[in-house]
Parts: sequence; C-alpha cells; structure tokens
Amino acid sequence: MSSNTVVTNQVFDMADLAVYQTPHSVKTVNFNAKLLEVRWDDGRESVFHAIWLRDNCACSKCKHPKALERTYMFFDHARPEIKAIQVVEGTGVVLDFIQGTEQHSSQFSWAWLRHHCYSQAALAEQKPIKRLWDSQHQHNLVVVDFNDYFTTDNGVKAWMDALLKDGIVLLRGVPTVSGKLIEVANRIGPVRNSNFGEFYDVISMPNPNAVAYTSLGLELHTDLVNWGSPPDIQMLCCLANSVVGGGSIFADGFRVAQDLRQEDPESFQLLSSYPLTYRFHDESCDIATDALALELDPYGQLKRIRFNNWLRSSMQLPAELIEPMYGAIAALWKRLRDTKYHLTTRLAAGELITYDNSRVLHGRESFDANTGNRHLQGCYMNREEIASKRAVLARV
Ligand SMILES: [Fe+2]
Repeated sequence: MSSNTVVTNQVFDMADLAVYQTPHSVKTVNFNAKLLEVRWDDGRESVFHAIWLRDNCACSKCKHPKALERTYMFFDHARPEIKAIQVVEGTGVVLDFIQGTEQHSSQFSWAWLRHHCYSQAALAEQKPIKRLWDSQHQHNLVVVDFNDYFTTDNGVKAWMDALLKDGIVLLRGVPTVSGKLIEVANRIGPVRNSNFGEFYDVISMPNPNAVAYTSLGLELHTDLVNWGSPPDIQMLCCLANSVVGGGSIFADGFRVAQDLRQEDPESFQLLSSYPLTYRFHDESCDIATDALALELDPYGQLKRIRFNNWLRSSMQLPAELIEPMYGAIAALWKRLRDTKYHLTTRLAAGELITYDNSRVLHGRESFDANTGNRHLQGCYMNREEIASKRAVLARV
C-alpha cells in the first residue's frame, strides 16, 4: 500500500538514551496490515512485523517517560494491524494501528529502525567481531597506558575495544600499590566478589587452599568453573616479579575449540552437549556445579569455555559416555598444551593484564620462590559492566 509523505524538521523521540544515527537514507517504504517494508539506499531490505512495531512504540503511554521501560503489555491487546502510514522525510515514519476496537499511533525514527533491523544481514552485522588468535598474538597484544586509561575516554575505549575483540589487553604503568587494581576496575564499574574476596593475592603460601597459591606451574585453565555463572572478566595486577620463572601463559580458548570442532567433531559434540561436574571446597565453602566445558549460544557459536583440571570433580554421566568423555577432554587438553596457541609473557611490576575468563585460558610457569618476590593481585568483573560503560560513552 502507498503512504503519505510530508517534510518537517521534527525529531522523533524514541525514549532511548542511546544516540542512533545512520548514514543511510530510505529509498522506498511499503506496508500491508502485517508488515512494514523499508528499502535503504545501500540495498538493505528491512521488514518489520506489525506486532513488533506496536510492541516497540515509544510514546509515553507505552514506555514510561522517566524510567524508559516498557509499560505496554501486548498480551492485553488484540493483534495489531497497520491501517495507514505517513512517511516524514529524513525523520521517520508514523504508523496507525488498529487493534480490534482500539486504535493507536506510533512514531519511529529511521535511525532507530535501521539500528533495530532484524534482517539476516543486520543480525550478522551486529554480532561482536572477535579476533581469534594464536601464539602470533604476542606481537599484537594491545597495550594501553595507565594514565590514558584513567584520564581519557579514548584510553578507556581502546582498552574496552581490545578486551571485547581479542579477549585480552595489557595496561602498563599501574602504580604498584596494594589494591590499586580495584581502582582500575572501578573506572569501569564494580568488581564481582567471590569466595576469594573482593580481590586476592597470588603469592606462594605455606598452607594454600588453591594450587594458584603455590610456586607450582599452572596448566591453562579458566577460573571459578565451579560457579553456575563464572565471572567473565579477570584482572591480574603485577606488584612484583623478581623470581626465576613465573612467566604467564594465555591461550584463546575459542580458537582452540574452533580447531577442535573442525579436526575432531565428535569430541567437540560431547564437550558441548554433556556437562562435567566442577567443585571447590575448603574449610568455609563447598561450591559445585554441572556445566558444559564448551557452551554454545542458540546459533551454535561458542559462548563460554570452562576448563580447570583442579576443579574437575567426579564425572556423573551415563556409563556409555564415561570413556568417550575422557577421550574428548584429552582431545581438548592436547590442543591446549600445543605451544602454537600460547601467548607467553612475563608480567613486570606495574603491568595489569585483563582477559575474558569465558574465552581466554591462563596459566603460568613454575617459579623458584627462593630467588625473589612474585606478587600478583587479582579480581573479577561481569562483562555487563564493560558493555554498559561502552554504551554510555557512545552516547556523546
Ligand atoms: Fe587462575
């Protein structure tokens, strides 16, 4: 059906604090009772369902004008049909809906529609682009200066972008003061507490409650795999490192799992279909969970890797899966030990490495505690804090 077109200098308020802009203009707009079709100057075709459009109405009756949350409840209304539309050139489109005996009018800005388009091409574009890496990443590790991070938006943006893309980023020039990493974390948001406290010291202890607190080498692993929802982001700040040994090792678990998927699909299938049991316990806590070593999203893409042999508890699986599962773990483990995936670095005092604990595994070489001091401090954060800070900075 055709539409009216008017020209005004109106701006449609979408009751959204994010700033939506698009370099693309609209070429044609068509509609019928159930759909609105928009064709853009770059050939993109956006099709929006009437029920979706009505549900996303941003007027003050449908979205609370202060809380900016949805107050419209589609469940309480008849299924909407688009009755008429009016194109406001350069601004957006006004839709008139009919819902049984009710009528409603909604405005949508073009930029908002372009940003929320759910065509296949748009969905593919919206996926965060991860740069998977191997040992060569040693030469490409993004390093951000502490002062830039702390005093400029560009510094903190560069740090966040590297973390989201590569899953690992290094901050240099951090004052070697105990607890400084909390200030670094708080530049983004609150830290996530765990049974190890707000932050923890990684030093060699005489009576350790975890192997991390020894001078032993640590195989590549992810932390807190025994939690139903492990922390996404881990920070390790180096206060001193004068010992012989004690280098840090990292690997991109998504890169390793991607190779496993291609080379050994049966093992990948087992690890992404059947849970392992993980458990940590000491004098004061006993925390266990059943979870997949390789967790996929609804589209089959890797979402989280959990690998930690110290915390792997007794397997509880149907009998016929016990031996195949040991084989699958071994297939993953063998690849994790392959140095072609390893980024090795020796953290120096004043360096703070941050990595995505849902993707990047970490470990260390053994060290001789009699040759000097090795003192790291660690803490955790949720990924939502990073995404939130990034979105808020993008508003200006
Ligand atoms: Fe760890």
